Amino acid sequence: MPIQSTSKIWHNGNLIPWEQANIHVMSHVIHYGSSVFEGIRAYGQPQGSAVFRLPEHMQRLLDSAKIYRMDLPFTLEELCAGVVDLIEANGVAPCYIRPIALRGYGEIGVSPKGSPIEVYIANFPWGKYIAGHGGADVCVSSWNRLAPNTIPSLAKAGANYMNSQLIHMEAEINGYAEGIGLDVNGLVSEGSGENIFIVRNGVLFTPPLSNSTLSGITRDSVLTIARHLGLTVRERSIPRELLYIADEVFFTGTAAEVQPIRSIDRILVADGKPGEITKKIADEFFGIANGLKPDRFGWLTPVKVNASEPVSA
Ligand SMILES: Cc1ncc(COP(=O)(O)O)c(C=O)c1O
Repeated sequence: MPIQSTSKIWHNGNLIPWEQANIHVMSHVIHYGSSVFEGIRAYGQPQGSAVFRLPEHMQRLLDSAKIYRMDLPFTLEELCAGVVDLIEANGVAPCYIRPIALRGYGEIGVSPKGSPIEVYIANFPWGKYIAGHGGADVCVSSWNRLAPNTIPSLAKAGANYMNSQLIHMEAEINGYAEGIGLDVNGLVSEGSGENIFIVRNGVLFTPPLSNSTLSGITRDSVLTIARHLGLTVRERSIPRELLYIADEVFFTGTAAEVQPIRSIDRILVADGKPGEITKKIADEFFGIANGLKPDRFGWLTPVKVNASEPVSA
């Protein structure tokens, strides 16, 4: 889906016109992938709109930057306030929010020291990410996820998404909605842009962070919801073949939200319909995000939005 532009973009603390948020082709990030970023959603609520888990996302941005020795000149509070100001200035919600910190124009060597750090935040409308309302048809990729101590998977860095692109393109070309990456030891890691959960005999499993997974905010939300619902939850390594004999499988992510999986490598997950536990968790997740259930975990940051239309298509 083409990006729908809005009016303003937050740049280093100021709101600038969308069209002026440009960088030079010789910027460090263009050549060496030196960026860290976030993906956040704001949901419509009966009384307005709210950003889902804003401080947690911005803390992860700061953590990603710290891993790459990027000293961001903004505090957690300033970054969160930037998101609220931007959404209110653009008047666009529900929306997807994309903060990015990058190494800009300075020197051409690999060393990032002489390249300034720039922080941008954009927001724009974005609907459903993965096709398949009743459940997505996915595959296990021939590409592995990032090996430990190479490109760190706990940092949400632009460079990680070269691997994600390989996984996603292979899946798409072969007619699947998404690909699941195994880690370097052949254990289940995650989708190209989602964490993964399985249900087996009533127990909810997800791979631990040591299987080259991103520490997903939605993953954490689902673990929290599941515990609150009284489910047994295990962060355990998952062998590939367990995917094929699971009772339920679903992806989680800011873009994908809670996405049931119908088949893996053309093998149906149970009877191919979203399972009871998946449905209960999804119901709670969307209920909280859409303001239809109490915000019992304090996950929502309200924003005042007057319009819901993008400036241009
Ligand atoms: C590789 C990868 N794993 C997992 C996720 C899910 O993370 P979150 O729930 O924080 O969006 C994402 C999306 O950001 C991702 O890109």
